[in-house]
Amino acid sequence: MLRERDDAHETSGRDAAAGPAERPVREIIRSYPLIDELLDARRGVFGGTEAEAVFQGYRSHAYHILNFARQWIEPSPEREEKIAIAAVFHDIAAWPDGNLDYLSPSADQAERYLDGIGRGDWKPEMRLMIEMHHKITAYRGAFREWVEPVRRADWCDVSFALMRFGLPRSFVREVRAEFPLTAFYPNHVYKLSLRWMLRHPLNPAPIFRW
Ligand SMILES: [Fe+2]
Repeated sequence: MLRERDDAHETSGRDAAAGPAERPVREIIRSYPLIDELLDARRGVFGGTEAEAVFQGYRSHAYHILNFARQWIEPSPEREEKIAIAAVFHDIAAWPDGNLDYLSPSADQAERYLDGIGRGDWKPEMRLMIEMHHKITAYRGAFREWVEPVRRADWCDVSFALMRFGLPRSFVREVRAEFPLTAFYPNHVYKLSLRWMLRHPLNPAPIFRW
């Protein structure tokens, strides 16, 4: 379902905004209990005075990931569950300490959860879905069919929907209206990135890779 020509638009916000031809989309998922169950269980990690706003922002972001990523993945009994788990855990270790090097620890948490539900067989693709989601260029490695859609979905939010990889503007707008991002996400990530750059001017932030 992934169209090769989309890749040409991946790094340029302007080109991506002009985009490839828009494509029909599946309906919006407005409630997916697993996302809320998993996030509620981890509510405590979003500490501080802004905790509730950050929590709500991250919840919305997780719903965006689910709604966007599934547009590029063939239907299967496991599709929504697997994306939802990736969506919940993909940034989770960024809290509570503002740790910027959080991708691997986030994948560790997802793996522990998968072990707990007897889905250890999903661990290889889950780790890649999480560890590669900030990759700047298209992901073409193992489990591309799972990893690349999550990467695209995340960039759609991080770019403030300038990068949509062919998703119709109206669909993205509807998802973002249903699940508003608060002021703290993705600003939270931007703040962490800025802090990292100030402290490590010669090293790119570890959450980004080409
Ligand atoms: Fe994210």
